[in-house]
Amino acid sequence: MNILLTGGAGFIGSHTCVEFINSGYDVVIADDLSNSKPKVIDRIEEITGKRPKFYKVDVSDRLAAEQIFKENKIDAVVHFAGYKAVGESCAKPLMYYRNNIDSALTMLELMEEYGVNSFIFSSSATVYGADADIPYVEGMPTGGCTNPYGWTKHMIEQILRDAAAANEKLSVILLRYFNPIGAHPSGKIGEDPSGIPNNLLPYITQVASGRLKELGVFGNDYDTHDGTGVRDYIHVCDLADGHVLAAEYASKHRGVEEINLGTGVGYSVLDVVNAFEQANDIKIPYVIKPRRDGDLPEYYADAKKAGEVLGWSAKRDLKTMCRDSWNWQKNNPNGYGD
Ligand code: UD1
Repeated sequence: MNILLTGGAGFIGSHTCVEFINSGYDVVIADDLSNSKPKVIDRIEEITGKRPKFYKVDVSDRLAAEQIFKENKIDAVVHFAGYKAVGESCAKPLMYYRNNIDSALTMLELMEEYGVNSFIFSSSATVYGADADIPYVEGMPTGGCTNPYGWTKHMIEQILRDAAAANEKLSVILLRYFNPIGAHPSGKIGEDPSGIPNNLLPYITQVASGRLKELGVFGNDYDTHDGTGVRDYIHVCDLADGHVLAAEYASKHRGVEEINLGTGVGYSVLDVVNAFEQANDIKIPYVIKPRRDGDLPEYYADAKKAGEVLGWSAKRDLKTMCRDSWNWQKNNPNGYGD
């Protein structure tokens, strides 16, 4: 099977590429490198011994993207390509809607034209919105997102449901990620944010390496076990495994499945700091800061459906996630460099 990974040079895409190659698939990556580096492709080859075919294209550019379908017999598309910074999406909503929705539509049109019927979408727990009860279960209503980034995920999910309703051959899996962290145990690929990180783990690893002075903990007065925000952190390699199983499932089924990829366990910011300190024997200085706008107190997955439908469950614990995140940062203090 030949799998097209749009955004395959990114954090989740690159780890997923490794798992597909290790499972015997041929992989084509399409990525415009707007938020990733070409070196990722070399690293994937170092890990797997096989070089994925790479196209430097913006997948919302129809003519350029069509070339991929002309030159390769694609069996399934895993669509990661998209902007993903929550704060930036509030400042530049039109850019987010244009880019994220356009690229999904272009892929779907090309798939229809070239007879490709499996679409795995990189969705997010953010689609459950601000008012959902926890744990988040797939059957719950979605919406009430807190930022344009989240709304693009929600809107694309709806577009995919409509597309599947009109095309009985189409098989769609909406993978709703919780908080992916960690890195490949080889330390060769990992998360490489540009500028000062917004997300918790990249921030912590840069404090550990001395690049940043201290962590700001956004609020310690939430109604949680220690007052800090609680999330469902999942190892990026577990997440990657979920995509391989989703592609296998999609090739044998039709219609739409929404599936949470989370562990089902919530950890607070301070739990993560403690786990990181213990796993790596490094102190992380922190200060308590005001709450960050738009943050929810606590959410985590009901992770049962992924087990029932895909036979998937998360295998790696928080300590492993913290160890692998640090291993990547330590070996690559400047990420992939320039
Ligand atoms: C956000 C998005 C999510 C997206 C994820 C990764 C929403 C509501 N959430 O998740 O969809 O998949 O980013 O891009 O759209 N924290 C600190 N200090 C820091 C950084 C974070 O205390 O310097 C805290 C936050 O307040 C939060 C937790 O750590 O409680 C996790 O934050 P973060 O890693 O940014 O992810 P989310 O906001 O949960």
